[in-house]
Amino acid sequence: MQTEKNTKKILLLPGDGIGPEVFGPVRDILEHLVTSGHVRLEWEEGLIGGIATDRTGLPLPPDTIEKADRCDAVLLGAVGGPKYDALPYEKRPERALLGIREHLGAFANLRPARLFPELAGSSTLKPEIISDLDLMVVRELTGGIYFGKPRGIVTDQGVRRGINTETYTEPEIARIMRVAFDLARTRRKKVTSVDKANVLESSVLWREVAVSVHKEYPDVELSHMYVDNAAMQLVRNPKQFDVLVTGNLFGDILSDEAAQLTGSIGMLASASIGGKTGLYEPIHGSAPDIAGKDIANPLAMILSLALLFRYSLQREDLAGVLERSVQNVLKEGYRTTDIQGAGTKKIVGTREMGSLVFHELKKVLENSQR
Ligand code: NAD
Ligand code: IPM
Ligand code: MN
Repeated sequence: MQTEKNTKKILLLPGDGIGPEVFGPVRDILEHLVTSGHVRLEWEEGLIGGIATDRTGLPLPPDTIEKADRCDAVLLGAVGGPKYDALPYEKRPERALLGIREHLGAFANLRPARLFPELAGSSTLKPEIISDLDLMVVRELTGGIYFGKPRGIVTDQGVRRGINTETYTEPEIARIMRVAFDLARTRRKKVTSVDKANVLESSVLWREVAVSVHKEYPDVELSHMYVDNAAMQLVRNPKQFDVLVTGNLFGDILSDEAAQLTGSIGMLASASIGGKTGLYEPIHGSAPDIAGKDIANPLAMILSLALLFRYSLQREDLAGVLERSVQNVLKEGYRTTDIQGAGTKKIVGTREMGSLVFHELKKVLENSQR
């Protein structure tokens, strides 16, 4: 195990709904890693989303931005909830999420859909379709229709019209392609670029740039797929994919679909990189339907912390320890309700699952020191 020379700093933003619940084990894990000398790390907490609006009037308060700017990485739970759904766009919790992604310049959202073998019986898909699944969705995160202008609701001669704009520039496409190709080089060297080039000009450009950047990566295979077909292929034969690269909106949708292949959306972590500070969050939302019931799956959150160690702190060793701890707990047959299925010995709640992983982590660390 290595240790850091300099103390790193991270910002914790639990957010709304199940966000604070799934965040439970995170502080214990960090505390233990620090006191046992495995990492030099400090953290502070901040407000984001509905809770920030409640306390400060803004979903992304300046204090949160300042804290993020002082940190080496940001770990976020989830934002949103029915209480805030009627707010104007600028005040909505979701706006804060887009705001912090944009502020940090985190344009590359990596969503690794890897099936733990223990969960082969937990997905709604047949085990033979998903066993050994290991695909990476690379979602462009700071462009496309999420940010394109014009946007808004206008009234033309008494008729209201909602407008959004799908837009990508060549440099925006080129840089996300490079992330995808670089990642593919560390994996099975296959990139599938997903677009809607049969209908959208922004996708025609997307495809052209993909082809042109690919010339820098002759050792990587590139193919193209329309998004409607990709959605179908993901449930028909997901193992054909290695790295799937796509725009902001398509990536949002396809990654929820990919999450279900791994058993549950409660399993899928994400890393948003490419800017000055990495942002790490599970791909699920605040799950208002189960919030406050101690049944949410905290593993996507814990696995997001693993990605933080991997990509922002260059601590592959600690990322591995966290992933192994999660896997060992699954091996012992503990499951939250969303991932129950073959191999389940005991259904546990959010808190118990968190503490099982925490205790397992201590064991894994002790064994690694022997
Ligand atoms: P959601 O991801 O919150 O929930 C979808 C379904 O998955 C629900 O049935 C929920 O119970 C279940 N689920 C989600 N996470 C789970 C977990 N960890 N364990 C077990 N089950 C889990 O999506 P939604 O219901 O469409 O959105 C709810 C709110 O969250 C909205 O306000 C939305 O805007 C927001 N949202 C936020 C983020 C984020 O913060 N990154 C992501 C998606 C949605
Ligand atoms: C996600 C979420 C967000 C997105 C929303 C809540 C803004 O669905 O992180 O996947 O669409 O990016
Ligand atoms: Mn989403």
